[in-house]
Amino acid sequence: MTDRKRVFSGIQPTGDPHVGSLIGALSNWVRMQSEYDTIYCVVDLHAMTAPYDPADLRSKRADVAKMLLAAGIDPSRSLLYYQSEVPQHVELSWILGTLTGLGQLERMTQFKEKADKGGQNLGLLAYPVLQAADILIHRVHAVPVGNDQAQHLELTRDLAERFNSRFGEVFPVPERITPEIGARVMSLTDPTSKMSKSDPSSKSRILLTDGTDQIMKKVKSAVTDTGTEVGFDRANKPGISNLLEMFSFFSDRSIDDLVSEYRALGYGTFKIAVGEAVAEGLKPIRDAYEGMSDAEVGEVMASSAARARKMAERTMISVRERVGLA
Ligand code: TYM
Repeated sequence: MTDRKRVFSGIQPTGDPHVGSLIGALSNWVRMQSEYDTIYCVVDLHAMTAPYDPADLRSKRADVAKMLLAAGIDPSRSLLYYQSEVPQHVELSWILGTLTGLGQLERMTQFKEKADKGGQNLGLLAYPVLQAADILIHRVHAVPVGNDQAQHLELTRDLAERFNSRFGEVFPVPERITPEIGARVMSLTDPTSKMSKSDPSSKSRILLTDGTDQIMKKVKSAVTDTGTEVGFDRANKPGISNLLEMFSFFSDRSIDDLVSEYRALGYGTFKIAVGEAVAEGLKPIRDAYEGMSDAEVGEVMASSAARARKMAERTMISVRERVGLA
């Protein structure tokens, strides 16, 4: 690693990455490789906070790693590793936990949503502290994420400041980097809620591994709004606006440009064009994914983890000293 500014981000291996993860986060992960020292992580420990099957976790984390490489994470420029292979994340998380008020964790929207579904456990409550440790352990300056991570990033910034003022300057206070378009890609079956890996309906999301037929079917059956005119209006036309954002991302054309072409052509024609653009945009990722061996992925993950452990240990040496453990 050089002295360029550093970036960290993570993705949970709880399901297959979809176009929401790609547009909201992964595309920025890829783009930032040319400007920053980039560190990316498949956060397998976070995935254990919801009920899971061990064999499934093992295969999902390898699939997600392969998908990240297929999407353009370049191991000669970025570190990419499994969180559990760098135990310093957990050590720092414990220390940060001693600086975190319970109330602040109980107020987290994601905790409340998941706890309401009956899945309360200590890991779920402590989840945002581990996320803060993921980021701070590498003393990074920026974190590319979708909008849904805003609250977790605020906690991370608070904890960095709290630690620094209590024990002395160790951590930069990291910035959140969120794209202008696609910070919150919505579900295809309910455009008022975000596209999510955990939605029971597989029609609600387009996976990065979906083939052209599946993509066309999902886009054609996407819930759209009353009316016939294609226009961008998040409040009154959430379905069409969501498709327009996706279309803009995959075609590299502005929303205004797309609206002026498709305004009067009707939803049917518009959806076919969106589906085609998405299918074409995902094809190189799908092809790269299918062409990559598990052994290749395993090598990248192991050698990155070894480097990440060294970097993380350097941070922990100063942290242990500051807090009185060395
Ligand atoms: P996760 O695994 O849910 O999502 C990975 C990334 O994808 C973004 N994303 C979306 N962006 C726009 N629209 C959507 N519909 C959409 N769905 C997902 C997420 O914002 C995220 O950036 N808690 C994190 C994982 C994590 C992490 C970290 C992230 C753990 N430690 C440290 C950053 C830094 C999560 O559950 O992401």
